[in-house]
Amino acid sequence: MLKAIIIYYSLTGNTKRMAESIAEGLKKEGVNTVVKEAEKVRPGELLKFEAIIIGSPTYYGTMAAQIKKLLDDSVEFHGKLDGKVGAAFSSSANIGGGNETTILDILNAMLIHGMIIQGDPAGGHYGPVAIDAPDSRAMKECARLGSRVAKLVKKLYK
Ligand SMILES: Cc1cc2nc3c(=O)[nH]c(=O)nc-3n(C[C@H](O)[C@H](O)[C@H](O)COP(=O)(O)O)c2cc1C
Repeated sequence: MLKAIIIYYSLTGNTKRMAESIAEGLKKEGVNTVVKEAEKVRPGELLKFEAIIIGSPTYYGTMAAQIKKLLDDSVEFHGKLDGKVGAAFSSSANIGGGNETTILDILNAMLIHGMIIQGDPAGGHYGPVAIDAPDSRAMKECARLGSRVAKLVKKLYK
């Protein structure tokens, strides 16, 4: 069975809510999905999943240190995530508060790992964003990302 992991850091719950909504999108498409806090993920676990989705609150225009640490620790498996599907999402307090730069920083690391990233011609082009708690628009975007990642994984791995 195809497997996805959604990894997040969330101090006040906004990014966590986004993670749960993305998981619903994946599960509806039949992908076995785990949602886990970044601090509980061992880098070696990443090898088990066909898709890895990472979310962070925007902290000074980039990812939280907890997410950066996991990415830095993943160097132990450099080359082994090649060809996996990646995606990212973020919650920030402000429109134009750096949520897109946060997503791009995460995607940048994924690309260096050799992962496959799909953009979106509609909605959040780089990945879903929320301003503070995700509203219905952001929740829809999250479910859409889950569904799109699932479809891509099925194309690549079935
Ligand atoms: C240390 C710190 C830095 C932050 N930096 C930014 C920022 O650069 N831009 C912004 O719009 N919001 C910023 N915020 C606000 C958070 O991104 C926002 O509250 C987010 O929704 C929190 O997500 P969470 O509930 O998942 O923790 C910052 C918050 C903290 C605690």
